[in-house]
Amino acid sequence: MHPHNTPTIALTGATGFLGSHLMAALLEKGYHVIALGRSTDDATLSQRIANILKWFGKEVPTGRLDTIEINFSQEALGLDRPKYKELCQASDQMIHCASDTSFSERRRQQVFDSNVHSLNHILKFAADARLQFFHYISTAYACGMNGTACKEQLPNTTDFVNVYEESKAQAEKNIATFCEENAIPHTIIRPTIVYGDSRTGRSLKFNALYYPIRSLMAIRDIYLNDIKNNGGKKSQMHGIKMDEDGYLFLPLKIVLPKSGGLNLIPIDYFVNAALQIIQNPGTGEIYHISNKTPVKLDEIVNYNEPFMKVKGVEIVYDDSPENYDRNPAEELFDRYIKAYLPYMHDNRVFDRTNTDRATSDLQPAAFNHDIFVRCMNYAVKMEWGEKLKRLGI
Ligand SMILES: NC(=O)c1ccc[n+]([C@@H]2O[C@H](COP(=O)([O-])OP(=O)(O)OC[C@H]3O[C@@H](n4cnc5c(N)ncnc54)[C@H](OP(=O)(O)O)[C@@H]3O)[C@@H](O)[C@H]2O)c1
Repeated sequence: MHPHNTPTIALTGATGFLGSHLMAALLEKGYHVIALGRSTDDATLSQRIANILKWFGKEVPTGRLDTIEINFSQEALGLDRPKYKELCQASDQMIHCASDTSFSERRRQQVFDSNVHSLNHILKFAADARLQFFHYISTAYACGMNGTACKEQLPNTTDFVNVYEESKAQAEKNIATFCEENAIPHTIIRPTIVYGDSRTGRSLKFNALYYPIRSLMAIRDIYLNDIKNNGGKKSQMHGIKMDEDGYLFLPLKIVLPKSGGLNLIPIDYFVNAALQIIQNPGTGEIYHISNKTPVKLDEIVNYNEPFMKVKGVEIVYDDSPENYDRNPAEELFDRYIKAYLPYMHDNRVFDRTNTDRATSDLQPAAFNHDIFVRCMNYAVKMEWGEKLKRLGI
């Protein structure tokens, strides 16, 4: 590390979806970034970061990007004393973007270890480094299930959809308390559901919005294969057939307990809004990076029909979904998307008072057919992420 004349930001999560985009944008804006992360069995942290920058079409910038392998679960982030001291001295601000994003209750211990217990060491670092600002990337869903009006305030409920939300809410509270007690200026930035770049469709992660489409495509391909290669016996039994117009007729009801939508934002909007907040932060403030207009699943199903050449997918709103007999395709689909279902009929409205003020009312692109097709084409091209893995990302 070295002296610097642009602010230096210690960034965690730079090997992930949101963090990598923040890293690329910060470098673009002239910041000095210290990426704090871990290696994998196949690559060191600096190799991983170089691969990611290559995906962005960028070289590793000389003198403005350092990578340091750390371990959050250890004191001094697992660094030896001189290295830790050097890191403290070099860091002006921190963006803590790393998180275990699993929704699985089976992984509760691991999720809490990564998202909550590790904060002891990260916040100690914030204090030791006397950071000018500590920015925490949380999630809008940390507000929990406490009614539909979500304020830009700390969570005040114990009712959450999954362990991920619960851990993020606990992390917010721990961060706010520690930072107030230690006079560390801080912000909490809460995106809703982030998808790829609205202009290019590029993405590094294919969950949430992508998951129902990927699941449907997998089910479609099972039946297409049956029709093309096995005489279509199974398809016939399940009432599935090829239409004359080349569409697959696949009767599949998605039963949702109530009407609602998905609160989607594209990654380009997330980055722009987060950077504006980071450049003009209000201490102790929480910012919802959300969409004023959630997207209804019906809309996505309509966009998907010509994209996938599948007919028969239908949204049904009924608060007794257990009353519906499920055909094998529906059973498979339900199983695939179980973890994401609560986000597909969400009525929560995210207050954006702080965000609108800090970002001069910057808004996300309206989700539409073109954006859907762009994003899904890229996802298919990247084999839903498998191809990126082969590129070492
Ligand atoms: N994606 C969304 O739609 C969304 C929406 C709202 C909020 N968020 C928030 O945005 C942040 C980033 O999410 P993301 O979607 O970018 O997640 P992601 O792609 O899964 O990336 C997670 C990042 O955290 C790192 N990480 C996880 N556990 C770690 C641990 N124990 N020690 C060190 N590093 C660890 C990962 O490192 P490795 O690469 O080494 O595993 C990776 O860099 C999270 O705080 C998440 O809560 C995301």
